Amino acid sequence: MHAWLCSDPSGVDALEWKEQATPQPGPGQVLLELKAASLNFPDLLIVQNKYQMKPPLPFVPGSEYAGVVRALGEGVQHLQIGQAVACLTGTGGFATHTLAPAERCLPLPPGFPMEDAAAFIMTYATSYHALIDRAQLKAGETVLVLGAAGGVGTAAIQIAKAQGARVIAAASSEDKLALCKKIGADIGINYATQDLRETIKAATEGKGPDVIYDPVGGDLAEPAFRSIAWRGRYLVVGFAASPTIPALPMNLPLLKGASLVGVFWGDFARREPQANAAMMQALAQWYAQGKVKPVIDRVLPMKDLKQAYALMGSRQVKGKLVLAN
Ligand SMILES: NC(=O)c1ccc[n+]([C@@H]2O[C@H](COP(=O)([O-])OP(=O)(O)OC[C@H]3O[C@@H](n4cnc5c(N)ncnc54)[C@H](OP(=O)(O)O)[C@@H]3O)[C@@H](O)[C@H]2O)c1
Repeated sequence: MHAWLCSDPSGVDALEWKEQATPQPGPGQVLLELKAASLNFPDLLIVQNKYQMKPPLPFVPGSEYAGVVRALGEGVQHLQIGQAVACLTGTGGFATHTLAPAERCLPLPPGFPMEDAAAFIMTYATSYHALIDRAQLKAGETVLVLGAAGGVGTAAIQIAKAQGARVIAAASSEDKLALCKKIGADIGINYATQDLRETIKAATEGKGPDVIYDPVGGDLAEPAFRSIAWRGRYLVVGFAASPTIPALPMNLPLLKGASLVGVFWGDFARREPQANAAMMQALAQWYAQGKVKPVIDRVLPMKDLKQAYALMGSRQVKGKLVLAN
């Protein structure tokens, strides 16, 4: 097997594509032949030692992937050799093979595309948990999605539309906004060229969005919060814009009767596994009905991982990047 090894977490340049002995699964594990893996923002941080989880060195990055079960460890009951699965484990995906805990493998229905399977769990689960669970989004409400053309942003647009909401997509280029409209956004705001507060006001007849979905942070957070509707819910999803965490004057939630709502899907899944499983089932149903589908910018060969990292790091990705074997 081959894998991208991170022995020195100083950045992407230090990653090495190396041949290794194919491991045998231990108790509760399966060996997967990987077909596809997708890039998520934490993959960018983990190889720079900037992510909250710091795996022992050396490790293989790649948090989310899909493949075929090739060997079963002792005690694995619910999977079979030859079965296609999707998996999110934090590491291991940027390779030709990996060992995965069987309990983390989601069996895929026959014919489910491997690229979609590798690009689904993290972004759709995060955006569903954020909008439907944490914000209690209702049909007819207006949602503003910041960083709307990114991985979690595109998932948020589709989920908000599936829930019957009106969606204002905000992003940094006309190209990105065109994609957001193609997948369902009603209105686009280019925050690189337009005044965020003025355009939000015009798009909502002065009322403001009921829900704001923010995976970006930075200088956008305060003007966005100042624009929120009465009883609005501001979803704190991530801080893609900067290492500095934005701060908010505490009078702002008071003035709007609004809530600042934290979103941490990974811990939600660990603390509330049954609620998470029910949510994944609801998402699988929406996928089968064609209401949600990963937006895949492009599929690159696994060997081109460094190019994929460069595209994501320079804000050039629309939707998700997938690496395929
Ligand atoms: N809370 C949770 O449970 C959870 C779960 C998953 C992900 N997240 C977080 O959500 C954020 C987005 O993740 P993602 O996978 O959707 O990433 P992504 O695909 O790279 O999207 C991030 C978007 O942020 C915008 N952005 C603004 N400034 C940026 C900068 N300096 N560098 C990079 N992007 C910048 C870009 O859009 P424009 O160019 O249009 O501004 C980009 O499309 C990350 O912070 C991630 O850690 C949180």
